Amino acid sequence: MADINAIKCFANANDLFQFAAEEFTTRSIACVKEKGTCTVVLSGGSTPKFFFSILTGMESYKKRIPWGDIKFFFSDERYLPVESADNNYHMVNEHLFSKVPVLADNIYRMKTEFNDPNEAANDYEKMIRSVLHLNATAFPSFDLVYLGLGEDAHTASLMPFSDVVMRYAENVQAETIQPLVASLWVPHLSMHRITLTPPAINHSARIIFQVTGQSKAQAVKHVLKGQHDPQAYPAQLIHPEHGQTQWYLDKDAAMLLAG
Ligand code: 6PG
Repeated sequence: MADINAIKCFANANDLFQFAAEEFTTRSIACVKEKGTCTVVLSGGSTPKFFFSILTGMESYKKRIPWGDIKFFFSDERYLPVESADNNYHMVNEHLFSKVPVLADNIYRMKTEFNDPNEAANDYEKMIRSVLHLNATAFPSFDLVYLGLGEDAHTASLMPFSDVVMRYAENVQAETIQPLVASLWVPHLSMHRITLTPPAINHSARIIFQVTGQSKAQAVKHVLKGQHDPQAYPAQLIHPEHGQTQWYLDKDAAMLLAG
């Protein structure tokens, strides 16, 4: 069976994000030319900041990317006020949106103003279905999805052994109605999270993991070379319906793959 993962290793993070920025540029241009828009899912955390610094810091990308035609979504959100520096929308707005001519109406953040995080998850699912004109059982096909990887092999906010992960690890394909968005309490972080579910991600045209640093090497090895155990390594739940999952790794993150 063809490998479901395509792995690109880079000498360092700068090479990785220069490559990713050029790819983002060419793919978004082609997408907008073909469809008039491009739907992009962004993740939070610290890794994307390097990517955004390249996209906003180099005129060749800043000028060429059709920012006003791109619709931005989020893979997940820490359930914190939008004013919090740890809120993913806050981070992306500070490092990307505030520096390029995106349209505010094209930014679809996961709202954290609801008292009940479940309401926030439902609200985001309704918004995705409305913006992408999806019926109640259809899945979104985002054009570009950018994901990170936690040291515990989580991605988005699909945390190991969480209810949402256990549900999909037990292969719920049989269920006709699979939610696009879920909320969960993360005990070790003492916070709620909102996250896209695997089926909301897996129908996308291109799914790209960007992973750097030695601290991720063990998780990368578990996910890509370890036993299939998505409950423990939730990033294993992510693979597109067609084609391969793209893994962009710097040398440090890939250091345990050779053995
Ligand atoms: C988040 C992210 C999460 C992230 C990984 C890696 O809200 O934290 O969406 O899935 O991609 O935790 O985070 P770093 O890039 O900070 O290592």
